Amino acid sequence: MTHGDLQFDGQGRLRHLLTIEGLPRQTILEILNTAESFISVGEREIKKLPLLRGKTVVNLFFESSTRTRTTFEIAGKRLSADVINLNPAASSTTKGETLLDTVRNLEAMHTDLFVVRHRESGAAHLIAQHVPAHVHIINAGDGRHAHPTQGLLDMFTIRRYKGPFENLRVAIVGDILHSRVARSQIHALTTLGAADVRVVAPMTLLPTAIERLGVRVFTDIKTGLDGADVIITLRLQRERMNGALIPSEQEYFNLFGLTQEKLAYAKPDAIIMHPGPMNRGLEIDSAVADGPQSVILPQVTNGIAVRMAIMAIIMGGSAAGPAPSEVRRTE
Ligand code: CP
Repeated sequence: MTHGDLQFDGQGRLRHLLTIEGLPRQTILEILNTAESFISVGEREIKKLPLLRGKTVVNLFFESSTRTRTTFEIAGKRLSADVINLNPAASSTTKGETLLDTVRNLEAMHTDLFVVRHRESGAAHLIAQHVPAHVHIINAGDGRHAHPTQGLLDMFTIRRYKGPFENLRVAIVGDILHSRVARSQIHALTTLGAADVRVVAPMTLLPTAIERLGVRVFTDIKTGLDGADVIITLRLQRERMNGALIPSEQEYFNLFGLTQEKLAYAKPDAIIMHPGPMNRGLEIDSAVADGPQSVILPQVTNGIAVRMAIMAIIMGGSAAGPAPSEVRRTE
């Protein structure tokens, strides 16, 4: 059984969002197109739609978050859902309650959707295997595995600024090894037909056989950024590192930190992205992060519309996935 199987119901509708791997192109496009229709909601005086009135969303974040948790809360509220933020540090998980028991008890309160972030890869998938048919799960980041809503908001941002994926060279720079964001971006970019997807990192920060995902590998930033339309810089995830994977932070910045000087290797109109949180002066220089080519803050704004779209599609049951005959039943 793959994660992808669980994501669709027997009628081929998107039921959970656990990973972008295996998600059909048409499903991704439906999410991006629906998000376009929600962008204007955030620009109105009354930022509300009644689509999820009466639904209850639980944010279940077992790892820290600023952007994802807050934009999910805003997205749920803009769709008129009731949104609960469980604080694991102040919950009964501290007394030994298991993840599944926590979910079962919240489910007993007639909740409809769980947005889950967890340090263990597969946590959202595990929950999705155990909830009843009317309950939905969105993965808000699981270990090193996947961060699908970040990947989708990044695709939305790229499409808005740079147009069709078929023409684009995208360079993902930095700590690919520990990055669930990079994995989700790569699956989305290859599914959407990006012309050239590159990963640029020292050998110690590259997963084994990453080329199998359809990317080209560069260990030199000059050639890696050559002619890029989009540069995505990634955070050095020191909290997930075992041992010394870089010689020193200064040397990493010298070799891979995105500066104005290195930016000159890319196309003059390249956009600069970062999923956040940023380590300024380590993977990116402030002059670039705050410069005219940066779309880092628009990524955050776009995250609300994309998360609204995902919640509306999952709970409204509209997104078309593979034909029902292609959906392997998992229950
Ligand atoms: N990009 C992202 O996941 O940021 P947060 O950890 O702040 O949610």
